[in-house]
Amino acid sequence: MSSTSIRRRGRTATDAQGRYKFITVKPGAYPWGNHSNAWRPAHIHFSLFGHSFLSRLVTQMYFPGDPLMAYDPIFNSVGDEKARARMISRFDLAATVPDWALAYEFDIVLRGRNQTPAQP
Ligand SMILES: [Fe+2]
Repeated sequence: MSSTSIRRRGRTATDAQGRYKFITVKPGAYPWGNHSNAWRPAHIHFSLFGHSFLSRLVTQMYFPGDPLMAYDPIFNSVGDEKARARMISRFDLAATVPDWALAYEFDIVLRGRNQTPAQP
């Protein structure tokens, strides 16, 4: 009998332009028991550090068009619609690898007026 190890965490540093890349399996929705028939939308957790460990942002990335976002108390804990939109990635056909991988772009802003909202 063999076992399979699934890596559920990754770590990277951005390049000089602040870009990063992860290759992973797209997560699915999962039930979380917060209320009746409660499902979390597909998401990926991010924990980011700026120039020091004191500048940290924890957030979640969501996928465009996921109907569960409308029902998710965590996603909707960010009251401002424009701020919520900054937590939704964009499908990137140009970066998609044919026959292998879809690509999504997710810009994360650590500080300022367009900061990516914090999420637990
Ligand atoms: Fe999660």
